[in-house]
Amino acid sequence: MSAKLVNTNIPTQIPNVLSIEEGGKTRLVTKNLVPDMQVYGEKLVAVDGIEYRLWSHHRSKLAGMIEKGMNLPLKEDSRVLYLGAASGTTASHVSDIVEKGRIFAVEFSPRIMRDLIDVCSMRSNMVPIFADAGQPGSYRAIAGSVDVIYQDVAQPNQAEIALVNAREFLKEGGYLVMVIKARSVDCTVNPKIVYEQELDKLGKEFNLLDKKVLRPYHPDHLAVIAQRSFKEPDLF
Ligand SMILES: C[S@@+](CC[C@H](N)C(=O)[O-])C[C@H]1O[C@@H](n2cnc3c(N)ncnc32)[C@H](O)[C@@H]1O
Repeated sequence: MSAKLVNTNIPTQIPNVLSIEEGGKTRLVTKNLVPDMQVYGEKLVAVDGIEYRLWSHHRSKLAGMIEKGMNLPLKEDSRVLYLGAASGTTASHVSDIVEKGRIFAVEFSPRIMRDLIDVCSMRSNMVPIFADAGQPGSYRAIAGSVDVIYQDVAQPNQAEIALVNAREFLKEGGYLVMVIKARSVDCTVNPKIVYEQELDKLGKEFNLLDKKVLRPYHPDHLAVIAQRSFKEPDLF
């Protein structure tokens, strides 16, 4: 199926991410790193002879962040540590974006890991890691240093998991892109209070660059972009 490019407010600095008009709607897509190959049944579309994969903000919080105008600090050669990769749905779009980089995809559910390994086997820049993201020492030898950590783990200790991984792997001036799921931290407390508490913990080691709630796509989720504060924050 063919489609055409449209101009939207989606930040254009993110490589291999476009907005297209398809079926009368504006949709987010990533350029398919592995042409003719779907990962989770997503639609493939051609624009000017190049194949793209539709990327829904309903399925992916990262897509929701982009559609909300957040400028992800991803470059085509970024090394990314992805915590909570699940079956690789969103991770595969990150793989499209960082086509010359690497994604270290961490997941601890054995059942989901099987699907993740299948996805990684089709994508040369993805490395599956079967590990608990709360124990970064267990994958120290595999991941090495990274430019960006993306975290989507839905755990009560989300900030702590981000901090221990950042200390272990994040380069000086590297970025944390994180989704804080309020209900996983404490479902009895107003999400705004949970966000403040988690941001306070991150604030000791990061400079906050941007934050947005992902409503209506993902209620009670706050998306955060922060830079490790070894130095003054700069624009990416
Ligand atoms: C909300 S899902 C992630 C969805 C995925 N980011 C996507 O967009 O396709 C959270 C995932 O994190 C995994 N997870 C939760 N805690 C974890 C931990 N401590 N270490 C590794 N994976 C974890 C869960 O098994 C689950 O697959």
